[in-house]
Amino acid sequence: MSYDAIYSGRFYFRDEFRELEVAVSDGVISHIGKAITGAPVTKLEGAVIPAGTDIHVHFRDPGETDKEDFSTGSLSAVYGGTTTVYDMPNNLVPVSDYSVFQDKLSSVSSRSYCDFGLYSLYNGKNADLLSPSSSGIKIFLGGSTNSTAVEQVSDNDLKILDSMNVPVVFHGEDAACLKANFIPEEHSLMDHDRARPEQCELTSAEVISRLPLKKKIMAHISTPESLPKLKGKAMAEVTPHHILLNNEMELGSWGKVNPPLRSRDTQRKLMDSYFRGSFDILSSDHAPHTEHEKEEFFQASAGIIGVETRIPLMLALVANKTIPFNLVYRTAIANPAAAMGIRKGMIQLGYFADFMAVRFSEGTRVNQDRLHSKTPISPFNGFQAVFPHSVVMHGEVILERNEFVGDRNGKFVGNLK
Ligand code: DOR
Ligand code: ZN
Repeated sequence: MSYDAIYSGRFYFRDEFRELEVAVSDGVISHIGKAITGAPVTKLEGAVIPAGTDIHVHFRDPGETDKEDFSTGSLSAVYGGTTTVYDMPNNLVPVSDYSVFQDKLSSVSSRSYCDFGLYSLYNGKNADLLSPSSSGIKIFLGGSTNSTAVEQVSDNDLKILDSMNVPVVFHGEDAACLKANFIPEEHSLMDHDRARPEQCELTSAEVISRLPLKKKIMAHISTPESLPKLKGKAMAEVTPHHILLNNEMELGSWGKVNPPLRSRDTQRKLMDSYFRGSFDILSSDHAPHTEHEKEEFFQASAGIIGVETRIPLMLALVANKTIPFNLVYRTAIANPAAAMGIRKGMIQLGYFADFMAVRFSEGTRVNQDRLHSKTPISPFNGFQAVFPHSVVMHGEVILERNEFVGDRNGKFVGNLK
């Protein structure tokens, strides 16, 4: 039997690390075993983990490529051990119909370093205009960057959205509640929390729980009290910033995000809830804005970057024994891929040969000067992190000794064979 490549190492296979060899044919895992022959063997040092999937990024391309573009965003993803990203539709020209979707797909297709999916935006009146190639649908129940709130979804539209058979991701902040809490001027992260209080999220969680859709995801949950309101009727997504940062930290506008960072007390409870396994998916909600846009607090756009630090921050918590590896594996790697229906996130026959290799003993700190985003300013600067030293995508090494050695070979998930 001959293969395109064979990798050997301590792979995370069936919930434990085991010395294995994994053979690859046409980018896909074709044999798993010991002492496999049929291609040169590449040894991956340290722990070998399936590469991550981030189902929530804003790469701003096309339209606001001064903040990020698909190349810088996807390169940043790879450096953080993520080989598939799902990009949100709140571009300057929102991705709310078939032709904008096609334009975006053709524009970004040859420029991505990792695989990618693209969301379409449901705006309350465009259900029958959405591209059937959409990898997911985004609905903002409360307004945020480049998006206006959807306050009502008709029964007919629910049927159309459900028949598309892709996840529907909700930004859960109730529009009426946001309006009622508006304050004319905000000066701090605590003001931002007061203007968009937890109650707005709780109201939305109840709305989401009731909507008759098969595949629902509530995005970036910021308080654990949303979980009982969701009643298990939607998958629960959380971000590293909501579990690790709070509004008592001196982050200024770089900590301004929607939904807001909460009090230290809420953040601690959310973190405990994530640590206990109550969340399904960990996403970055990577949302870059320029320094100019972050200058003045009240005017500042909301959003925090994180596609490159999402997994490394969590691996540092594994390294110092705060959390078990399986929690990170499940929420950042296996579940996001399964939710999107791609054959990734597992060492398994027929799955894509996408891995990262890390040394848990070689922790470092996030240094924003060395992140690959076009706007690399990160509130996680200085936090402990374990970055991958190697990344393999479609069976080819694309990151080696911490340096990118690949090309813009990322594929649209709809074209993954
Ligand atoms: O903080 C946020 N930034 N929340 C959102 O809902 C959108 C995002 C962005 O696109 O900037
Ligand atoms: Zn977002």
